[in-house]
Amino acid sequence: MRSALLATSALLFLAACDDEIRLPVQEVSDTVTADYCGMNELMEASCVGCHGAGGSDPELTDIADVIDLESSVDGAFYVVPGDAAASYLYAKCDGSAEKGSSMPLGGSISDENLDAIATWIDAGATEDCEAR
Ligand code: HEC
Repeated sequence: MRSALLATSALLFLAACDDEIRLPVQEVSDTVTADYCGMNELMEASCVGCHGAGGSDPELTDIADVIDLESSVDGAFYVVPGDAAASYLYAKCDGSAEKGSSMPLGGSISDENLDAIATWIDAGATEDCEAR
């Protein structure tokens, strides 16, 4: 009983880094569909643990909320419909962003899922789930 309690508090201590609780990143082994539903599935599995309500900016519980939304870098928008190369969210995931770390922080994203993000943005970042 006592060792179980100790183990639990050690875990809580490890989880409470910085000022926010970070949940472990789930690896998405399956390739998501390059559409709105696939994007939210990917955000939920790989990003929302840190970018949930009250978490790190931007909140990614619904990727539609970051379309045309300006990032912490002046003039850089998270999702620019039709232009993945100009989208800061994409740059953060492919490691080319000018500021901060590559996302998902502490985890990784497959090339296929990175391509799915680019395809969805380049196709206009619509809220359709046609690929299913
Ligand atoms: C373990 C926690 C964690 C996970 C998981 C994570 N992020 Fe982040 N994210 C952060 C932190 C902390 C920052 C701020 C520091 C930085 O930019 O490196 C950040 C910054 C960002 C920014 C830049 C915000 C700005 O305006 O400068 C974007 C975009 C972003 N994350 C997207 C994502 C996406 C997409 C995923 C999932 C594929 C993801 N993050 C997963 C913690 C996380």
